Amino acid sequence: MNLGIRGRVAVVTGGARGIGAETARALAAEGVKLVVSDIDLVAAEAVAGEIRAQGGQAIGVRCNVTDKAEVRDMAAAGVEAFGAVDILVNNAGFNKDRYLTKMAETEWDSVVDVVLKGAFHCSRAVLPGMMERQWGRIVNISSRSVFGNPGQTNYSAAKMGLIGFTRALSLEQAKFGITVNAVAPGFVETELMQANPGYPKLRELALAKNPVGFLGAPDDIASAVTFMASERARYITGVTLYVTGGRFSS
Ligand SMILES: NC(=O)c1ccc[n+]([C@@H]2O[C@H](COP(=O)([O-])OP(=O)(O)OC[C@H]3O[C@@H](n4cnc5c(N)ncnc54)[C@H](O)[C@@H]3O)[C@@H](O)[C@H]2O)c1
Repeated sequence: MNLGIRGRVAVVTGGARGIGAETARALAAEGVKLVVSDIDLVAAEAVAGEIRAQGGQAIGVRCNVTDKAEVRDMAAAGVEAFGAVDILVNNAGFNKDRYLTKMAETEWDSVVDVVLKGAFHCSRAVLPGMMERQWGRIVNISSRSVFGNPGQTNYSAAKMGLIGFTRALSLEQAKFGITVNAVAPGFVETELMQANPGYPKLRELALAKNPVGFLGAPDDIASAVTFMASERARYITGVTLYVTGGRFSS
């Protein structure tokens, strides 16, 4: 299938590793020019360099998505390098798990901020250009944890909030040729998961509970995001695509 996005320009936040890096690679394979954006510039530049080495076009940009000025500069860098930003993947995120009764206010705030305020700042930075050109794609990375995981009140609430954000923004932008969708991954083996102190046990549990009998790879999520970001998905907006191997509950 020709996805019809050759020559488009995408920003992937948190693009330096894991799901974001794989999404950047998948979009580049479709001929999309990439702004690989991350709080970790060295790693973002490494992914951008890898894409260029494969014959694609990409730049690495340092950007903390919770910082409005950095987000504005990052979007401007994309426009300066490639003339526009057509696709935004709001992927930057992390979890700070603790039972609510023990959770520090900073643990609540940082997770809610990176997920929700990050999507707010990044979407606002790129939407005016998309509206002007009457074409755009925003794909928000939510999570299966919206169904509730113990120890993740902050993360589950933020990722569910991102689904509400997706629905509302999709309605605001539909008339401008801009779609806004969410992709909600289940357990995917990335550094974020491996950083969890309970990782081996978590992995075992996730495997036991997974209907398809295996755990997802970053590429499984990247494929779904790339389709949602494509011309072929023009009639899909406001939805959440669960890429979880059939697992929905906690
Ligand atoms: N791995 C999973 O199983 C899983 C499941 C569901 C949802 N997700 C979501 O997918 C997204 C990517 O997760 P991953 O597993 O690839 O994580 P990861 O930790 O491997 O990569 C996340 C990237 O985001 C960057 N980042 C963190 N804070 C940032 C900030 N403030 N500004 C800009 N960049 C920032 C990090 O530097 C890192 O490169 C996250 O939103 C995560 O919540 C992951």
